[in-house]
Amino acid sequence: MSPLHRTLPVATALVLGLTGAALGSSASAAPAARPPVVGQPGGSWAGDPYFPAMGATGYDALTYHLDLDYDPVDATSGTLDATAQLTLRPTTTLSSFNLDLRGLDVSSVSVNGRRAGFTHEDGELTVTPRRPLRKHVRAVVRISYGGTTGRPVDAEGSLYGWVSTADGAMVVNEPDGAPTWFPVNDDPNDKAIYTFSITVPKGKAAVANGVQIGKPKTRAGRTTYRWFESSPMASYLTTATIGDFDITTTRGPRGIPIINAIDRDVTPANRATSEASLAKQADMIAFFSDHFGRYPFASAGAIVDDDSVGYALETQSRAIYSRSASEGTVAHEIAHQWYGNAVSPHRWSDIWLNEGFATYAAWMWGEHTGGRTVEARAAAVYATPATSGLWTTVMADPGPLNLFAGAVYDRGALTLHELKQKIGDDAFARLLKAWARDSRYGNATTSDLVALAESISGQDLSAFFDTWAYTPEKPTTW
Ligand code: TRP
Ligand code: ZN
Repeated sequence: MSPLHRTLPVATALVLGLTGAALGSSASAAPAARPPVVGQPGGSWAGDPYFPAMGATGYDALTYHLDLDYDPVDATSGTLDATAQLTLRPTTTLSSFNLDLRGLDVSSVSVNGRRAGFTHEDGELTVTPRRPLRKHVRAVVRISYGGTTGRPVDAEGSLYGWVSTADGAMVVNEPDGAPTWFPVNDDPNDKAIYTFSITVPKGKAAVANGVQIGKPKTRAGRTTYRWFESSPMASYLTTATIGDFDITTTRGPRGIPIINAIDRDVTPANRATSEASLAKQADMIAFFSDHFGRYPFASAGAIVDDDSVGYALETQSRAIYSRSASEGTVAHEIAHQWYGNAVSPHRWSDIWLNEGFATYAAWMWGEHTGGRTVEARAAAVYATPATSGLWTTVMADPGPLNLFAGAVYDRGALTLHELKQKIGDDAFARLLKAWARDSRYGNATTSDLVALAESISGQDLSAFFDTWAYTPEKPTTW
């Protein structure tokens, strides 16, 4: 979804019968033969140098409706039977277009209600509609697919994507795990609106992003949960986590629902820790809203899974925690809703814009609640020896195998702390808000941050950022 088309009422066009096919053929009185529409194939790569197969070009995905039917098989596998319906808007006239989907099989594809051709190889699904899709004319694509799910790992060897567990699945995609469970333009620049309809064995619960639509419905021993995330979302922030969850709802600032799902099998100690941390979400949202501007989404909350994936992820409006949610981690994931989720990186090399800001924000929360000061935390990071990877990695281009390294989190946070000293408290406070606002629901780069900081402060910050973001050495002067 491009920012311009963010709010177009897709549903309205469908209700009026204005499908891509109808809009594409204008009735004309003259029977004169029209030249056939000639399209070109869409691209199979969005262009991020860290991920040479990720995403596609030639269209803008507007909405995804994912209908997922899941059955756990054993502790490490399950079966998925699914349909994905997406609305897309071609940015050029397309003879074919691509989606990413790995490890599952496609059984049929239709475009605007008519069966379409497809090939599926090496994680690339190429769809060829009967007639080319005209530039700017929306098309509705339905893909039936499924298969056996397992426990995929990312390039660094960490579990991610659709991770089958003993009681369901823990679904955490960052950075490129979304194609392990649905066909997608897996490009963080192509945000879309999502609805989920997830059917699981009765007794299990399924939790996705956003809010629940209606009550879960049980038929013939299977229960369907429906969820809707109303704000544009990058594919790596989607989830459809399944387990033995108790779901509770409270209210946060401006009345937003805070929906928490806690696995019944987390240990009593982990439950106590998690509940205490999650009880602070409303205060965290209020505190961060004061500093970063209004909370960007219509709901909030958490999923605490008893599974052992081992880390937390800021899935949009509903962060996921493994086994336990500490207060510092909850502050970190809540802060990501502004930095990372509302404003997402344009390229994966910009990941410090997510992790540096979220780490810094958690430092702010710690200081606010009487813990260590930001100053003390920054000093501790700066005390790291010059030989550490913290300094020998280029923060704003860490490489695809170092996306989640200390040079991204701690050096990122320290960079913001030093920037505050450099431009002054007032300019820094304005920067935090402007950064969250200017690219809300979109994407931005490190250069965008530099430009914004320069325009707010009136200072030339090129040397500062050269030293902190681009030089693989411990800064000594800046
Ligand atoms: N972004 C997460 C955090 O800092 C860390 C993370 C990266 C992650 N990739 C992941 C967590 C995959 C779970 C799964 O909060
Ligand atoms: Zn993070």
